[in-house]
Amino acid sequence: VDHTLTVHPGRAGPAIDRTMYGVFFEDINNAADGGLYAELVRNRSFEFSTTDNRAYTPLTAWRETSHGGATGTVRVVDDAHRLNERNRAHARLDLSGGGAPGSGYGLVNTGHGPGVALRAGARYDFSVWARTDQRRGTRLTARLQDAAGAALSEPLTLTVRGDRWAKYTGTLTARAAASGARLAVTAQGTGVLRLDMVSLFPRDTYKGRPGGLRKDLAEKIAALRPGFLRFPGGCLVNTGSHQAYEAPNWERARSYQWKDTIGPVEQRAVNANFWGYHQSYGLGYYEYFQFAEDIGAMPLPVVPALVTGCGQNRVTDDPALLRRHIQDTLDLIEFANGPVTSPWGRKRAEMGHPRPFGLTHLAVGNEENLPDAYFERFQQFRAAIEAKHPDVTVVGNSGPDDSGTTFDRLWRLNRDAGVAMVDEHYYNGPQWFLENNERYDAYDRGGPDVFLGEYASRGDRFSNALAEAAFMTGLERNADVVKMASYAPLLADVGENQWRPDMIWFDSTRSWGSTSYEVQKLFMNNTGDRVVPSEATGTPQSAAPITGAVGLSTWATSAAYDDVRVTGADGTTLLADDFSAGDGRWTRAAGRGTWSVRDGALVQSDETAQDTLVTAGDPSWHDYDLRVKATKKAG
Ligand code: AHR
Repeated sequence: VDHTLTVHPGRAGPAIDRTMYGVFFEDINNAADGGLYAELVRNRSFEFSTTDNRAYTPLTAWRETSHGGATGTVRVVDDAHRLNERNRAHARLDLSGGGAPGSGYGLVNTGHGPGVALRAGARYDFSVWARTDQRRGTRLTARLQDAAGAALSEPLTLTVRGDRWAKYTGTLTARAAASGARLAVTAQGTGVLRLDMVSLFPRDTYKGRPGGLRKDLAEKIAALRPGFLRFPGGCLVNTGSHQAYEAPNWERARSYQWKDTIGPVEQRAVNANFWGYHQSYGLGYYEYFQFAEDIGAMPLPVVPALVTGCGQNRVTDDPALLRRHIQDTLDLIEFANGPVTSPWGRKRAEMGHPRPFGLTHLAVGNEENLPDAYFERFQQFRAAIEAKHPDVTVVGNSGPDDSGTTFDRLWRLNRDAGVAMVDEHYYNGPQWFLENNERYDAYDRGGPDVFLGEYASRGDRFSNALAEAAFMTGLERNADVVKMASYAPLLADVGENQWRPDMIWFDSTRSWGSTSYEVQKLFMNNTGDRVVPSEATGTPQSAAPITGAVGLSTWATSAAYDDVRVTGADGTTLLADDFSAGDGRWTRAAGRGTWSVRDGALVQSDETAQDTLVTAGDPSWHDYDLRVKATKKAG
C-alpha cells in the first residue's frame, strides 16, 4: 500500500486555544481525602457514618490505645458540647487515670490506605481542637509510631486548658520513612477530655501551602500544563438530595453545594460521596480555584441543575429550592470574581485571596438523562447568570452518552437556544476511538461548541493510549468546534477505586501516570497555535463490526434493577449481572454497544474485546438477536 501524507503549510487551519486540553478532577477513587488533599488523618472529625458507607462507624480508622497502665473509655458523641453546628460529632474520652507516672490513654489513627506515609527527617504539622473539664488542664501527647507501636518521632506534649474548644498545634519530625505509620494521641490524668479535628499534614505540600495538596500528585497534574481544570464532578455534583445542610437533621448524600466547602475547615459541612465514601470537604472550592491558579489552568466549576443524573433520574420540582441554587451560583461567581467589598468577594479575601480568580466559564449539570426537565432548569440558571455576568460562558451538557435520543434532543435544544458550549462525555473501547477519528469533521458547525469534558478508551493497555492519541488528532483538527477536552477520571487510589481506567495512580507514598497520562502530557505540552491542514492516503480501513442492540441503558440498569440477564434468541444466557452484589455499575455503552461472544459470555467490542479476540486467534464475530431480562428493584 502506498502511504502518502500531504501537508499544506500555506493553508490556514483553525486556531487552537490554549485551553484546548485540560484536566477533570472529581473525588472518585479517593481522589480528594487520602489523595490530592494532603491530610494524613482519616476521619479526623469523627463524622464517618453508615450513610457514607455501610462499613463505617464514627471510629473508623481509629482505635483505643493506652500505655503505662492508664485506663479510660472513648465514645463518639454529638451533644451540646459539639465543636459547632456543622461539625457535630467529637470524641469524648473519659479518663480514669491509674498506671505509672507518664502513662496515657487515647486514640491511634491508622491513616488512609496502608497508613500514614512518612519521609525520614520530614516535618509534620499536628493540630487538634480540644477541651477538658479539669481545672488544672489535661496533658496531651501526640506522636508518630509504627503499626506495632514503636516510636517514629519524639513525643509532642501540649496542655489542654479550659472547657471551651481551642485549637492546639505543634510539629512532629519523622525519624524514619514509613508507608504504614500511625498517629497516636494520648492523655494523662482523669476527667473528660473532648477531641475533634485531629489533623496531621506534611509541611511539604504543593507550593508549601499549609493544609494544602499532596505534592507528588499536584506536581504530576501541573506537569501536564493543563489549559483548564474542570471540578468537582461528575456524578458527584448532581446526585443525592439538593437540600441545604440543615442542623440538626441534616441529610447526608446531598449534591455538591459549594458553600458547604469554604471557610475554616472545622466549620465546613461534610457529606456522603456518590462513589461510596465520606467527603471531608477539606478540599473545597477555594482550594480548587487556588490550585487552578497555581497550575495556570482556567477554572471551570460544575454546579447541580436540580435534575439528578447518573442513573438516579429524578427531577426536583421545588421552585424555591431552584431559586436558591441559582442564587448560590450567582454567589459563586461573586466569590470567584467579586471585589473584596462584595459579600462573597470578602469571604475569598478572608481565606487569603483578595485578587479575583478570574472565572470565565461555568457548567450547569452533568449527564442528565431527562433532557427536557434538565434544559428547562439549565435555561433558568443561564438567564440569571447572563443577566448579571454577560462575560461568563454558561456550559450546557448533552447527557450521559455520545449519541442516542438524549444526546440528539439535548443537542437540538442547546442549538436552538443558542447555547455557546455543550459538555459531551464518552467512555468507549479503543476500536470506537479509532473508528471515530472523523467524528467532528462533519460536525454541525451551526450548533454549540464542544467541550469534551470526559472521555477515555476503556482498558489498561498501551493500545488504549494510542487510540486516544489518534482520536485527539481528530479533536485538534477540528479545533474550530472542539474547544476543550479532558480525559477522565484523573486520579485513582490503587487500594480503593470505583472506576477504571484512570490517568494517575497512587498509593500512600508513590504515584505514577498511565500511558494515557503520557499521551495527555504530550498533547498538552505541545499544543500548537493553529492546525496545519494535511491529508493521508493508504491509511488502514477497519472492518465494520457487527452490532446488536440491548434495550437498557447502563445507569438505568444499575439504578433500577437488581439482576440483569442478556440472552441470545435461543435463550442462552450471554451475560448475567447481579447488581445487588457489586457497586451496581455495568459497562457504559449498553443500549448501543457492539457485541461479541467469547467463552460463552457476551463482550462489548468497545470494551477491550476486539484485540483480545484477535490475540486469542478467534477474530470471528457473531450477530446475535439479543434479549434483555431484568428484575426490578423492590420499591
Ligand atoms: O468519570 C467518572 C464518571 O463518569 C463521572 O462522574 C460521570 O460524569 C461519568 O459518568
